[in-house]
Amino acid sequence: MHVVRFVGALALSLAFIPGAGAQGLVNPATEKRIDALLAQMTLEEKVGQLNQYSSAFDVTGPAPSAGAQKVMYDQVRQGLVGSVLNVTGAEATRKMQQLAVENSRLKIPMIFGLDVIHGYRTMFPTPLGETASWDMGALEQSARIAATEAAAAGLHWTFGPMMDVSWDARWGRIMEGAGEDPYLGAQAAVARVRGFQGRDLGALDTIAACAKHYAGYGFSEAGRDYNTVDLSEQRLRNVVLPPFKAAAEAGVATFMNSFNEIAGIPSTGNPHLQRDILKGEWGFPGFVVSDWGSIGEMVPHGYAESLEHASRIAITAGSDMDMESRGYVAHLAALVKAGQVDVTLVDDAVRRVLRVKFALGLFDDPYRYSDVAREKQALASPAHAAAARDVARKSIVLLKNDGGLLPLDKGAKTIAVIGPLAADKDAPLGNWRAQAIAGSAVSLLEGIQAAVPSTTRVVHAEGVKLVTGPRNFMARSVINTTDRSGIPAAVEAARSADVVVLAVGEDAFQSGEGRSQVDIGFKGLQEELIKAVLEANKRVVLVLMTGRPLTLGWTADSVPVIVEAWHGGSQAGHAIADVLFGDTNPSGKLPVAFPRHVGQLPMTYAHKNTGRPGPEPGVTWSAYTDMSNDPLYPFGYGLSYTTFTYSEPRVSAAQIGRDGSVQVSTTVTNAGQRAGVEVVQLYVRDLVGSLTRPVKELKGFQKVDLQPGQSREVTFTLRASDLAFYTAAGKWEAEPGAFKVFVGGNSRDVKETGLTLK
Ligand code: NOJ
Repeated sequence: MHVVRFVGALALSLAFIPGAGAQGLVNPATEKRIDALLAQMTLEEKVGQLNQYSSAFDVTGPAPSAGAQKVMYDQVRQGLVGSVLNVTGAEATRKMQQLAVENSRLKIPMIFGLDVIHGYRTMFPTPLGETASWDMGALEQSARIAATEAAAAGLHWTFGPMMDVSWDARWGRIMEGAGEDPYLGAQAAVARVRGFQGRDLGALDTIAACAKHYAGYGFSEAGRDYNTVDLSEQRLRNVVLPPFKAAAEAGVATFMNSFNEIAGIPSTGNPHLQRDILKGEWGFPGFVVSDWGSIGEMVPHGYAESLEHASRIAITAGSDMDMESRGYVAHLAALVKAGQVDVTLVDDAVRRVLRVKFALGLFDDPYRYSDVAREKQALASPAHAAAARDVARKSIVLLKNDGGLLPLDKGAKTIAVIGPLAADKDAPLGNWRAQAIAGSAVSLLEGIQAAVPSTTRVVHAEGVKLVTGPRNFMARSVINTTDRSGIPAAVEAARSADVVVLAVGEDAFQSGEGRSQVDIGFKGLQEELIKAVLEANKRVVLVLMTGRPLTLGWTADSVPVIVEAWHGGSQAGHAIADVLFGDTNPSGKLPVAFPRHVGQLPMTYAHKNTGRPGPEPGVTWSAYTDMSNDPLYPFGYGLSYTTFTYSEPRVSAAQIGRDGSVQVSTTVTNAGQRAGVEVVQLYVRDLVGSLTRPVKELKGFQKVDLQPGQSREVTFTLRASDLAFYTAAGKWEAEPGAFKVFVGGNSRDVKETGLTLK
């Protein structure tokens, strides 16, 4: 087995994370205690530690039947359950823990997990939206607040961050990740792991994080959830794994494998991913949980004959904990006794689980996280709400502002707030909302009403409903395609107003798990509404609330102002109003491109050049004949109420040695009238490689705050190791040759220089 050195740009920043995580999982004293415990455990008790059930409290999968619940409670008492997911609240978790600790022979505490993805009670923007802030401090803070709330409610472990790079907005789960780029994804992964886990897993405001979904899930064919994936080793290493590697280096305590196969091998049964790379090359000491039922799903995948067979494959491949397949608890002991599974594999898996339980302090006090008073206080914290508002406004991306319609004048006579999402207090909470209270978000209408003086008239019309029927995790959104009865009132409201704020997009449960779509345009009657409103009043500010990028079609040209506000969380309405009225100058940048057309997907700015990059006269080059190759809004893009100019970039040396580094500098000037924040981005292109290289790759970014007229020299240190990639030789290294170096405010509009690696 070779050792891959990941000495990319992250290495330096990771070195500054004191005490981060998984290193803290392993220490001689704990290992001794684990040895002692293992020596006392029966085989069945060991297997029990690898068994995870969902409680019936709040399910993120099929609810357990009454019979299954009884089995669970009986097994908990017997010490045959190591973990429960979806049990929440200080009281409920305490009761559940009591069952294990007061009844089982060895009193081993259980670990309670939940999908705490972008908040527990206080919702922050959905992860993709939050990543648009390009503010790693904000991501860390948001994860820490989520952890503080969840930990007070008795939880020990979140199934996040999700770090699947994806180039395909058809895939509904793109909303849960950090977008299309492995470098930004790695930075986001580290920030979130730091936020959830802090410096000390045993602290009462931290919980164990989980790097998921390992691996390749974001590359499901045709963007259809759970679908087949076939990735080359080079794409796996260069594109998919960097966030996971970074999370492992940052000390993430757990990993979750993924539902998909890669090249015919389901991840749950993939020893290359789990044993060779994760536990071998990266030396990961924590444990891997399967995804929900993914051990059992190796049967329909056609990779295992039975649940028993699947269980053997999974434990052998390095899946340590079985989430809801009920395969380990049913078969693993017998498989060991029959000599089909080596008991050392079970021991190793149990050791990994126990390490995390020790680090969380559960052996000192199994109830330490279940604290009713702390829970009450944490869940009602005004500071958490203030932070959610701050992160939400940093996440908003101004896509278009023709005619400078924004920022709006608070003294306008009449503002019409229109659209299916205008007064919606639920959609902004987004999918994967943990214990958010349904309908508890500040709506856009409320945000605008709170922002303007009483002399400004705010009129509201829904126009059309977006969805009808139930809105929850287990229900498919039913789109309204027939009820147009509200359109005339919306037109009337638009006509009466100085300016229209029109809120459209996606319902919370339109993106997320199992929410893949072939069409990512406006669903239902929204385009009809937009058209009717535009005919009544041209001064329209289109506010998009979405989990993913949409294709905007004709509206991109016809509407003067477009703002992407994502599903912005509990304080969404206030945050959007902050931006619309200019109290906050928008600074968000897209973490994933907005395509012009769904047929362009999958797409990334970091594509390969091909042998026929064009443009050429005629048809025989790599282009569509009916549309541009380019996205509507590229990766890294976002406007401000001011404008920024960039000088030509400078490199401190034209050549760089194999262990050297250069400084890349550019002078950024705020050329407008308002103070603003710019995300300055650094890209490179490796012109010739032993494997073909992308036309651009993000290698760094910095947020700078500039007063009107102010200039700042922004300098990046680019090390030779930042140019490394997984080469044809199967090594992580930089290859000598020429590189282009770009700086700019997005991945398209850049200025260029170059250097040579000796
Ligand atoms: C399945 C999802 O894929 C995963 O992300 C989640 O953590 C589990 N269900 C538990 O809810």
